[in-house]
Amino acid sequence: MKRFEIVNKRQLNDTINWYTIYAPLVARHAKPGQFIILRVDEYGERIPITMAGHDAEKGTVDIIVQSVGRTSILLSQLNVGDCLADLVGPLGQPSHMEGLKKVAIVGGGVGNALAYPLAIGMHKAGIHVDMICGFKTKDIVILEDEFRAGVDRVFMMTDDGTYGEKGFTTDKLKALLDSGEKYDEIVAVGPAIMMKFVCGIAQDYGIPSVASLATYMIDGTGMCGGCRAIIGGEPKFVCVDGPDFDGSLIDWDLLIKRGKTFAEQEAHDREHICK
Ligand code: FES
Repeated sequence: MKRFEIVNKRQLNDTINWYTIYAPLVARHAKPGQFIILRVDEYGERIPITMAGHDAEKGTVDIIVQSVGRTSILLSQLNVGDCLADLVGPLGQPSHMEGLKKVAIVGGGVGNALAYPLAIGMHKAGIHVDMICGFKTKDIVILEDEFRAGVDRVFMMTDDGTYGEKGFTTDKLKALLDSGEKYDEIVAVGPAIMMKFVCGIAQDYGIPSVASLATYMIDGTGMCGGCRAIIGGEPKFVCVDGPDFDGSLIDWDLLIKRGKTFAEQEAHDREHICK
């Protein structure tokens, strides 16, 4: 196998693919919650992606990527046998699990893919995991079988009611808490606006929360400041201090505003460059 070769590719829905990539040094040291930065070609931008899994023996890492911008669309055009230009990692801090007995993990959209290794890792560590998976509609549901095989309970939600229960992940979380479920921690992975509301509910019920942040990144080593977020009034770098942070300390409004910085450029790329 060649370095950074795609050894497996599986389409999960119209825009999301699961890639297994040969990267033995990264696979040997990876832990749930950590991410890699990859470039599709030598002129390409660097994009951070949380690992969906790794196999130290086979020397592979798994990533699940939604084709939403230039690089992720170019990545989707590669196939088994093709190689990435480069891939660095593992980066960031692993997710913490110490002292937890029962958690709820709330995933939104492609955030479910990022939540997947954490949910499986926590369950394997003996933690009871309730997984709330939210999607806009049935067509984009991913990983249901994998979650059902790997955690204690799975609650599927769609905004339009075309699959599972109709409603938002926050509706299900609130219903569970109102019915008396107790959690040591609530974890949110998905769109910033969803994580903001999930962490708000956790706070209302006096439960600690953790949000896994996905910001723009350039170097991934704490040098450029591109990934900064305000946590508890202090600037933090998501690439080295995160990606997981206490949900009650995050300046959500600033995070959401910064997340829209390149929205116009990304829309332009989708329209014109990648067709
Ligand atoms: Fe540059 Fe985090 S990506 S400081």
